[in-house]
Amino acid sequence: MAMRFFLIACSFMAAIASAAGNLQRDLDITWGDGRAKMLGGGQLLTLTLDKASGSGFQSRHEYLFGKIDMQIKLVPGNSAGTVTAYYLSSQGPTHDEIDFEFLGNLSGDPYTLHTNVFTQGKGNREMQFKLWFDPTKDFHTYSILWNPRHVIFMVDGTPIRDFKNLESRGIAFPKNQPMRIYSSLWNAEDWATRGGLVKTDWSKAPFMASYRNFKADACVASSSGASKCASNGAPGSNSGWWNQEVDSTGQERMKWVQKNYMIYNYCNDHKRFPQGMPAECSIA
Ligand SMILES: *[C@@H]1O[C@H](CO)[C@@H](O)[C@H](O)[C@H]1NC(C)=O
Repeated sequence: MAMRFFLIACSFMAAIASAAGNLQRDLDITWGDGRAKMLGGGQLLTLTLDKASGSGFQSRHEYLFGKIDMQIKLVPGNSAGTVTAYYLSSQGPTHDEIDFEFLGNLSGDPYTLHTNVFTQGKGNREMQFKLWFDPTKDFHTYSILWNPRHVIFMVDGTPIRDFKNLESRGIAFPKNQPMRIYSSLWNAEDWATRGGLVKTDWSKAPFMASYRNFKADACVASSSGASKCASNGAPGSNSGWWNQEVDSTGQERMKWVQKNYMIYNYCNDHKRFPQGMPAECSIA
């Protein structure tokens, strides 16, 4: 019912532009007392973390479906204990959430890319990866493709994870609650370094992560409950992301990533779920 209304509302809204580049227009710095900065007239955003505080930003709009890209360059050098979180989230106790979190490491040791999906307030769907490049040397594009049938996590266009809509099998899928983009750079020594095994080296502070080329080709939710869909017109007509799924080339690449770079998959963690694996794990 809600979906039907949404589709109708969406297809009658005018297209709005979504040119990449102006972070000032789309993002608001929300905390960090000057530690987050918008530079170059909105071309670049930097978050910093020191011993006293981290910093963060959020998107001005809430979205209900879309393809959202961000280029991020992570904290270089000894980044152990730092976490750069970049995620979509709605609010409230039954919130939906789609997470990318980058766990820093000692110089020369690889970052962990942690992903999770919450539906109706329930998460516990972690999958973790190493990356096939050094994410601190250059900007790389991290994307969330969210349409009514899939949540696809992508790195430089390569799908790494596909959370499918399995509502027909009784598994909740995020589709009714608008979500905002949030990002923060914070310290999580205890969590991010195997129980505090490695200490954050504060002599290297401030730590910095950089962002550019935010692009939300997405439906913008408004307070009235309606939704405006950018940028090539209504979803279903020529917005590729609305019907997108992982095609055969993408499947090959996703398999390659999961075989060679995945370091944790909740669906393989039988010890953790002695009373039975989550239902989606037995549906490929
Ligand atoms: C840091 O690197 C070590 C060595 O490769 C690895 O075992 C560990 O999981 C990494 N830590 C994080 C937080 O990624």
